Amino acid sequence: MKGIILAGGLGTRLLPLTKVTNKHLLPVYNRPMIFYPIQTLVDAGIQDILIVTGGNSAGDFLRLLGNGKSFGLKHIHYTYQEGEGGIAQALSLAEDFAENEKVVVILGDNIIEADIAPHIRRFEKQARGGRLLLKKVRDPERFGVAEIKGNKIIQITEKPKHPKSSYAVIGIYMYDPDVFKIIKTLKPSRRGELEITDVNNAYIRRGQMEYDILKGYWTDAGTFESLYRASWLVANKSGTSR
Ligand code: DAU
Repeated sequence: MKGIILAGGLGTRLLPLTKVTNKHLLPVYNRPMIFYPIQTLVDAGIQDILIVTGGNSAGDFLRLLGNGKSFGLKHIHYTYQEGEGGIAQALSLAEDFAENEKVVVILGDNIIEADIAPHIRRFEKQARGGRLLLKKVRDPERFGVAEIKGNKIIQITEKPKHPKSSYAVIGIYMYDPDVFKIIKTLKPSRRGELEITDVNNAYIRRGQMEYDILKGYWTDAGTFESLYRASWLVANKSGTSR
């Protein structure tokens, strides 16, 4: 399966840290943020990776990562997102790269502890549709929130004021090639973006969305609090900080 890392957007919630550089090049403990999603994919056996970057310092990704040799990769593909059209818009830029295969997509600011290989294996066995990873959190209103009935997600609401559950949809998504057709039907949300939650709800309406619960820690790193928490989690995992 191919892997896509979305590292575009302008990172405005981290200004002034992101005034001259890209959010995904900022440090999370002892490594640049972008190293973590790359490692997550590589650890799950994904070798064919596209990075969608954007905003400031796009050239620095090449200087930092080159062709991915330090991750044991032969090659990394890159593309550039103009502006901040949303996660689904960034994903649309991967259509040619995907070549009609299933893909696993990871947001460049999502940092997890677990190996996602078992979830990918389950998705490989799935005939069609998508697969999400959920995590119980204390602050669901910051995320896409899944409403679950039985063993099915019946709806996802993006950053709800009154969340219907504490299950956040984390930024790792598995899709069949129909995802690119679905993105073409989307309209920009109130924040002017093509929302990944609208993509996921389209699969739910088709009855083609499965999910697993993620083990281990998960955090985004797109706000000052979560960036700090990400460093803390990584430092404590590596046993070098208390
Ligand atoms: O972290 C998980 C959450 O990510 C989900 O629960 C939400 O449903 C999903 O909408 C998203 O929420 P955020 O509002 O926190 O996403 P954010 O705008 O911070 O973007 C997350 C990453 O997506 C960012 O690090 C890079 C990529 N991105 C984002 C935008 C808006 C792009 O590549 N291009 C973009 O235009």
